[in-house]
Amino acid sequence: MKTTKIHLIFCLFIFCLISCNQKKEQKIESTNISQLEIKLDLLDLQAKNKLGKDTIVNIANDPVYHKEKKYKAVSASLLIKNEIDLSKIDPKNTKIVFECLDGYKPEMPLDLFLNANPFLAFEDVDAPKGTKWEPIIKNGNETNADPFYIVYESVSEKDIRYKWPYNLVRIYLEPLNKSKIDLYPLKNKKLEAGYILFKNHCISCHSINGIGGTMGPELNFPKSVTEYWKEKELVNYIVNPASFRHKVKMPTLGVTKQQSQEIVDYLKYMSEHKKVDSN
Ligand code: HEC
Repeated sequence: MKTTKIHLIFCLFIFCLISCNQKKEQKIESTNISQLEIKLDLLDLQAKNKLGKDTIVNIANDPVYHKEKKYKAVSASLLIKNEIDLSKIDPKNTKIVFECLDGYKPEMPLDLFLNANPFLAFEDVDAPKGTKWEPIIKNGNETNADPFYIVYESVSEKDIRYKWPYNLVRIYLEPLNKSKIDLYPLKNKKLEAGYILFKNHCISCHSINGIGGTMGPELNFPKSVTEYWKEKELVNYIVNPASFRHKVKMPTLGVTKQQSQEIVDYLKYMSEHKKVDSN
């Protein structure tokens, strides 16, 4: 009789201890989320077998291979929901940033992404025997989509709001307005058009003050491109990089001369607002 009582008290004590610890963990998690810098390392999750259930997806017109494709994939929205407690963040004010092996860093609003039924492809069903991916020919060089490629079954490849990053290694969640605060031309709102063009066409490859992709060079710090390029040449370069450099890695993006001038006006403004985070 006595021993069962002691047991009971002991069990209660342990129970309290566990539930107190759980509260502590939850608290740590929510402070992290309010600061909002969430990172998912996809190779790490794969190694721990935490990507989720495999399925086969059919892509009617794949924008990278320019044909119909089939992949082995997992649901990217389920993966994110399993790893991150979305009840603690506001998907409408959050963006998802994709980090690729070559420093390409496209981004899009999180709610747009989650509602599009995205898939994380990890193997190409059409790959030649003994390989995981069909090769991609880019600038005359052969590459492939390894290790991960984001695809959608029901999104048109022409809808530029949706990103299809391949060679994907990490996913970040950040406040939607992060670059807005730091890169917005606060002191001259007339330059907003150039800022928006930069955000839509350039930031996935280029940084300003360290914010943005690293596939192309930083454009503002320590020296702005507007300080060492002649303005007219810079405008023309942005419209058609291949007319300046043989085998240029920067694609022709379809921006008009006038849009390019707006971007350059914005870059000139940013050259007077240099700032780089210490990290
Ligand atoms: C897909 C990636 C990509 C995108 C998108 C892109 N660039 Fe580039 N850019 C590059 C790379 C890579 C280089 C390096 C030069 C090369 O290709 O030889 C470059 C070079 C440049 C340079 C020359 C830098 C120097 O120091 O000489 C400028 C200026 C530039 N880009 C501006 C832009 C602007 C403005 C946009 C948006 C309209 C843009 N780029 C979009 C990849 C990109």
